[in-house]
Amino acid sequence: MVDNIVYKFFADYIYKHTGIVYAENEYYRLDRRLQHLYEAFGLSNIDQLYQLYNSNDHGGMVSKDMHEKLLEIATNNETYFFRDATHFDILTKVIIPEIQKERSGKGPHIWSAGCSTGQEPYSLLMTILDLFQDLKFAIDATDISAPALIKAKKGNYDNLEIQRGMPTKTLLKYFKQQEDDTWTIKSLYSPYINFSHLNLLSDSFPSSEYNVIFCRNVLIYQNQINKKNIVQKFYNALKPRGYFIMGSGESLNGLDIPLTRKFIEGGMVFQKEK
Ligand SMILES: C[S@@+](CC[C@H](N)C(=O)[O-])C[C@H]1O[C@@H](n2cnc3c(N)ncnc32)[C@H](O)[C@@H]1O
Repeated sequence: MVDNIVYKFFADYIYKHTGIVYAENEYYRLDRRLQHLYEAFGLSNIDQLYQLYNSNDHGGMVSKDMHEKLLEIATNNETYFFRDATHFDILTKVIIPEIQKERSGKGPHIWSAGCSTGQEPYSLLMTILDLFQDLKFAIDATDISAPALIKAKKGNYDNLEIQRGMPTKTLLKYFKQQEDDTWTIKSLYSPYINFSHLNLLSDSFPSSEYNVIFCRNVLIYQNQINKKNIVQKFYNALKPRGYFIMGSGESLNGLDIPLTRKFIEGGMVFQKEK
């Protein structure tokens, strides 16, 4: 039987560094994750893991490797290609044409915040290139998880991952089959996406930079205070009339941020007015 103090120690650590909340009634969700972690360190139970992280040897400080491994197990990296397809329709049918009308000379700058293993930014890339061959655009893709970003940068997926959402025609156009039967994004397309590490909670964002920010299925794990802080930073990072897009089950209810809710093409997005 694991003592609640042990769970609380890990839940507090995760909250402090990621904003992800594991409430007391959700401590059981940490079990399997902490098991992966103690196995990775060659230990045999959670108590030993607690001793390692909490030991005086570290003087309350956790090494970089231990820190990153703990954040790795705390995040949920579930994602798939063309998730919430309506958002991609809104982008190509409404948002990009609107930006083109502005004739600012600059193409859309898009941010996939919490991009996980890359399926979201690659879906954005393929959607845009399919319909706007001559458009200048750039995609920034960020995540807190180092291993997720390594995979995203490689753009290499096994058949199971490919089968989740990728049409065959699209696969053959943008990906190259490898000898081990996995698929890798063709090198021609890699330069469109700039992957980097960013902690939404503690890092600062650029100001008035993006035409569109996708932050889907990321803020659901944050409490209301953190969510408000992060969305306020997104608001500042948007250009005037820029769009903020969340997962289909998510909302900005109760946050009091001046983003206007819009229903387009059967989906919901938020727009900065000025
Ligand atoms: C469930 S995935 C969503 C992936 C993709 N946006 C989608 O909708 O398919 C959530 C991602 O958010 C990242 N994440 C969680 N907390 C974060 C934080 N504080 N800063 C940056 N990324 C974070 C996780 O590492 C994970 O990859």
